[in-house]
Amino acid sequence: MTLLVATASWASDVWAERFRAALPGRRIVIHGEAFDPADIAYVAAWKQPPGALAGLPNLRAVFGLGAGVDYIMEDPDLPGVPVVRVIDPDLTNRMSEYVVLHCLAHLRQFRRYEAQQRAGVWEDDRQQPAARDVRVGLLGLGELGMDAGRKLAVMGFDVAGWSRSAKAAEGIRSFAGEAELPAFLARTDILVVLLPLTPATEGFVDRRLLAGLARDGRLGGPILINAGRGRLQVETDILAALDDGTLKAATLDVFQTEPLPAASRLWTHPQVTVTPHNAAMSDPAAVTAHVARQIARLEAGQTPEGLVDRARGY
Ligand code: NAP
Ligand code: GLV
Repeated sequence: MTLLVATASWASDVWAERFRAALPGRRIVIHGEAFDPADIAYVAAWKQPPGALAGLPNLRAVFGLGAGVDYIMEDPDLPGVPVVRVIDPDLTNRMSEYVVLHCLAHLRQFRRYEAQQRAGVWEDDRQQPAARDVRVGLLGLGELGMDAGRKLAVMGFDVAGWSRSAKAAEGIRSFAGEAELPAFLARTDILVVLLPLTPATEGFVDRRLLAGLARDGRLGGPILINAGRGRLQVETDILAALDDGTLKAATLDVFQTEPLPAASRLWTHPQVTVTPHNAAMSDPAAVTAHVARQIARLEAGQTPEGLVDRARGY
């Protein structure tokens, strides 16, 4: 049973090599090479080229090579086979590193002191709040949000999360559903977005949502960190909110258009930190091992870990 590697933006040959090591005895082919479509049982995809999922009569499953599968769910050629995403400690740890790093950077005014050093300025206003004084709100309390939340709680932050269904997690206050969103926002100084991109969440981080964040926090204004997906956010609204003080600062790993266009004001805004969609990289060794385990489960008649709910879209 052959596995097809289909990615328009990652190094297909590197992934194919890793799949050959993780799935010895299986044939691994790359989109664009010659192969018989009837041989393909599995596709491993990251932002697959258009048409890559079409005309595969014996396809048994599509594996996303990351945690988010929006690009698979939006593919008009996606057949009705199981879609499986990555749930893996390596990826989860990487995201938690990113979230903790940037929450601490805002708490400890990292960019201010960096700028002061460049200017040779020794200045401290002695107004440093502690982590316990800062309320972090995780928008999305799934695999990644939950792990980041636990680690932020260990650092002492006052942590809450918002999701569709209520959660029970020590050290994390749970808010759920539309009805509890205003109360969640009103107690949030740093909003960390870790939602999946679905028809229900597209454009969710807009002016109205940002205006609901706490105004009485210790950081001098609310802060946005988006490490979910770019199309969750409305960038013109974020810029307007930064300009009029609705937001104090933003750290963005993901953008409506990637790479972030050179003309975007986000590149140069003094209150914005830009990272190139690398909050939690997919490590080929870890992810191919995860896919190999899920193929074994599927072929043993078991439900794969990371099976996407087609109705919810994540
Ligand atoms: P997950 O386990 O599926 O968790 C998603 C969370 O969002 C869940 O808590 C879910 O609520 C909540 N949610 C979804 N739709 C909602 C809605 N309409 N209203 C309220 N809550 C909603 O996903 P994950 O593994 O944590 O990953 C989250 C996202 O991170 C991925 O989809 C991907 O886009 C992004 N990501 C980015 C990077 C990067 O490098 N920047 C890396 C990896 C992942 P329930 O728990 O109630 O279902
Ligand atoms: C990366 O963005 C992922 O979804 O894993």
